[in-house]
Amino acid sequence: MDTCRRFKQLNMKKKTILSIGILLVGMSSLMQSCYNDNKQDLLAGSICDTTNVSFSTTISSVAVNYCTSCHGGGAPSGGISLEGYNNISIYAGACYNAMYNGTMPQGSNKLDDCTIKKFKSWMDAGKPNN
Ligand code: HEC
Repeated sequence: MDTCRRFKQLNMKKKTILSIGILLVGMSSLMQSCYNDNKQDLLAGSICDTTNVSFSTTISSVAVNYCTSCHGGGAPSGGISLEGYNNISIYAGACYNAMYNGTMPQGSNKLDDCTIKKFKSWMDAGKPNN
């Protein structure tokens, strides 16, 4: 990798400063192995757009993708249906807490921070049915 080699060269020069040499070598090997991955992660973390979250594009798909398999149909889990705007709107606060705490979706990984932030932003905007 070109980028990796550049880091290596940079590092060679800095090896003259022995007191921090070990630290730099450690850092450089980390950078060499996952420089590109880190860059992508940082980028992904920085583009969580929580402005103008709409029910139809974001909130309803969160429910459909992660919740309604249990919270839907004739006998929804916990007696809580999360199908459609009215139900989601009624249970929004409890849903947010459950997602934030990671208790829901039950049996799955906690939802990613950006999704949870978007949900919060939608609630703060007054739960518009848009
Ligand atoms: C695998 C099934 C399953 C999935 C998927 C699931 N739930 Fe639940 N949920 C349950 C069950 C069962 C209960 C009732 C018993 C309990 O509280 O554990 C429950 C209870 C709840 C409650 C009320 C109790 C509490 O913890 O506040 C809320 C709110 C809730 N779920 C929200 C959600 C949301 C939001 C999602 C999607 C992000 C989701 N659930 C996904 C099974 C599920």
